[in-house]
Amino acid sequence: MDETNSQNDNGSVEIDYMDLDNIIEKDFSNDQENLIMMLQAIQKRYNYLPRPALAYLATKVGIPESKIYGVATFYSTFSLEPRGRNIISICLGTACHVRGAERVHERIEENLGINDGNTTDDKRFTLESVRCIGCCSLGPVVKINEDVHGRISSDKIAKILSQYE
Ligand code: FES
Repeated sequence: MDETNSQNDNGSVEIDYMDLDNIIEKDFSNDQENLIMMLQAIQKRYNYLPRPALAYLATKVGIPESKIYGVATFYSTFSLEPRGRNIISICLGTACHVRGAERVHERIEENLGINDGNTTDDKRFTLESVRCIGCCSLGPVVKINEDVHGRISSDKIAKILSQYE
């Protein structure tokens, strides 16, 4: 996540509205047709879709907030909850499953002290299970942000996680 993001006392991010204006107006021409791309850009900026940002987007672009929430909840790639600075995607697809992905998954949960779908209290990691990320021959596969870790074994987990701040 961008270093300039700051969190207030209740853990939610503070919204930079000038930055939002740049996304909405400069990058996507204030055009309703670009809604999904605007949401992608906002999520990239904050790592999730903060509610005040969506309310602002609705006003700026002239789309009902309910429609924006409809889109945001339809696509599983969007999150309305704060996520960690690092997103761990553990593949539990068939090819990875038969090569021991469940054990790796359990080890990550143990290591972070969270269950699948959750975020660590320090917002360092969010853990999500996925079904196939397209590199089955490398299974079991764990993707952390854009890094793909293939042929991973549970005893390598702690070392790999230590590489991510
Ligand atoms: S099943 Fe895991 S990458 Fe395809």
